[in-house]
Amino acid sequence: MNAKSGIAPNLTLDEFRKVVCSRRSVRRFTEEPVPDHVLDDCLELAMLAPNSSNLQPWEFYVVRTPDLKAKLAEACLGQNAAKTAPVLIAVVARTDTWRKHSRMALEQWPEEKLPGIVEKYYSKIVPIHYNQGPFGLFGAAKKAAGLFVGLTRPVPRGPYSPNEMKIWATKSTALAAENLMLALRAHGYDSCPMEGFDECRVRRLLKLLKKGQVTMILAAGKRSEKGVYNRQYRFDKDDLVHYL
Ligand SMILES: Cc1cc2nc3c(=O)[nH]c(=O)nc-3n(C[C@H](O)[C@H](O)[C@H](O)COP(=O)(O)O)c2cc1C
Repeated sequence: MNAKSGIAPNLTLDEFRKVVCSRRSVRRFTEEPVPDHVLDDCLELAMLAPNSSNLQPWEFYVVRTPDLKAKLAEACLGQNAAKTAPVLIAVVARTDTWRKHSRMALEQWPEEKLPGIVEKYYSKIVPIHYNQGPFGLFGAAKKAAGLFVGLTRPVPRGPYSPNEMKIWATKSTALAAENLMLALRAHGYDSCPMEGFDECRVRRLLKLLKKGQVTMILAAGKRSEKGVYNRQYRFDKDDLVHYL
């Protein structure tokens, strides 16, 4: 597939549907390891997720060493998915890499000529838009200005605080987590996303900085026979989908 050309290839809807519909949260895995080339490919596909301003605020911590994995599984409240998975992947959202990544976006622009608008975006707009300043004071000032200017025209309404930056980074990172789970499925492997973990302990085990938000820990491996606990169900579409 020529990703650069922007020409979309012909796809098989059936295969996509199979990947999406066969993905389940698997709570018990076999001992079969996930090969390195599969993990690598899945992580590459995860990183192709759409993300805010292409600032790629994610990180992935792949834990396979038995000792660390056992400790991490304990920090995941001893859940079966974590205890039986041959690999655990902490999907982390970073609220602090946007500055470095905006420089990288300029350095690594994939076309020969850097458009002026892109240059302006990463060198002028991004440093204002995502900067919250010491104690979030710049964010608060931006919010006040936004409220005022927003009376007469549409304006961006954030991120205006360190907490909103967490939401900002988490949105994109969660999309990467979904790509990762679907990629594992497409390779014939399974996963369970987990937010049931002790964040303080996880942070300590992974030696994470304060600015890293553990969005999810994914247990990954081959589903065991009794790995899926119940049939999949979703609420009525009519209540949740609104055509306007
Ligand atoms: C953000 C998030 C956190 C989750 N945390 C856990 C968890 O800690 N433990 C668990 O067994 N499942 C967890 N799940 C899986 C959900 O329970 C599961 O997706 C849901 O029940 C629907 O089932 P399905 O994924 O098989 O369709 C989590 C899912 C998401 C998206």
